[in-house]
Amino acid sequence: MTAHRRISFDNIQNNLSTTMLGRDLYVLDEVTSTFDACEKIGVCHGTVVCAKRQTDGTGRLGRSWESNEGGIYFSLILEPSRYGFDIQLYTLICALGVQRAISEHTACMIKWPNDIVSPDGRKLCGILTKIKLFDSKAGFINVGIGINANNKSFSDDLKYAGSLCDFLGREVDENRLLCSVLSEIEKVLCLSPDSLVKEFAEVCVTVGSRVKIVPAEGEKYAGNAKGISKDGSLMVEKDDGSLVCVNSGEVSVRGIYGENYV
Ligand code: BTN
Repeated sequence: MTAHRRISFDNIQNNLSTTMLGRDLYVLDEVTSTFDACEKIGVCHGTVVCAKRQTDGTGRLGRSWESNEGGIYFSLILEPSRYGFDIQLYTLICALGVQRAISEHTACMIKWPNDIVSPDGRKLCGILTKIKLFDSKAGFINVGIGINANNKSFSDDLKYAGSLCDFLGREVDENRLLCSVLSEIEKVLCLSPDSLVKEFAEVCVTVGSRVKIVPAEGEKYAGNAKGISKDGSLMVEKDDGSLVCVNSGEVSVRGIYGENYV
């Protein structure tokens, strides 16, 4: 891999066009997880903690996140009291920022709520948001973002993972991509909640699709995804005609990973 395209503190600083995000920047060679690294650093609004490798990267739903060299792994700290967004909307804000940035390279869509997928349905990015409470209010949000930029391979069990590099047939500049993601997230943070949800729904492959919902508890069911509600949940019409709002659990979209269910 060409050295200047690899994550580096100097290259990120030279390319950064944001006002706040990433101005307090840490670039580390290896961490267990950027979430752990943030616990040891005095973070503030806009802090970015980026690592070249994670030995214990975490994903949603208790899964691990494979974090070999070539990917971009970072935590972005946001202070929600600065904005008027519902707390659940921060994952959508960041997903839209990443989708906009990756779209500079190739068409891509968001799989609600937090995956960015390539046109052939490969997962290019995942987002996991953790909330740090102060006096029972959300003090900081730690948005953990993993982008499969130049990863060369994935474990056999990660059937649907793909890297941007594999998809494009060329390496991407990790520093420029990270800077573009931060810049887009900063712009999305300036949208109104209504505009955010509208744009998100337009680039969300889940909306308009047949979906299967696997709730954290209870029976799984299928339905048709109708839209995104104001608080960021997925509106699903069940087969009995009732409308439910889904805000957690796993949602699979028929077709993108070869699923076929009635
Ligand atoms: C998912 O399951 O889709 C979410 C994956 C989130 C991975 C990122 S990489 C940076 C941050 N640190 C972690 O340990 N996980 C998140």
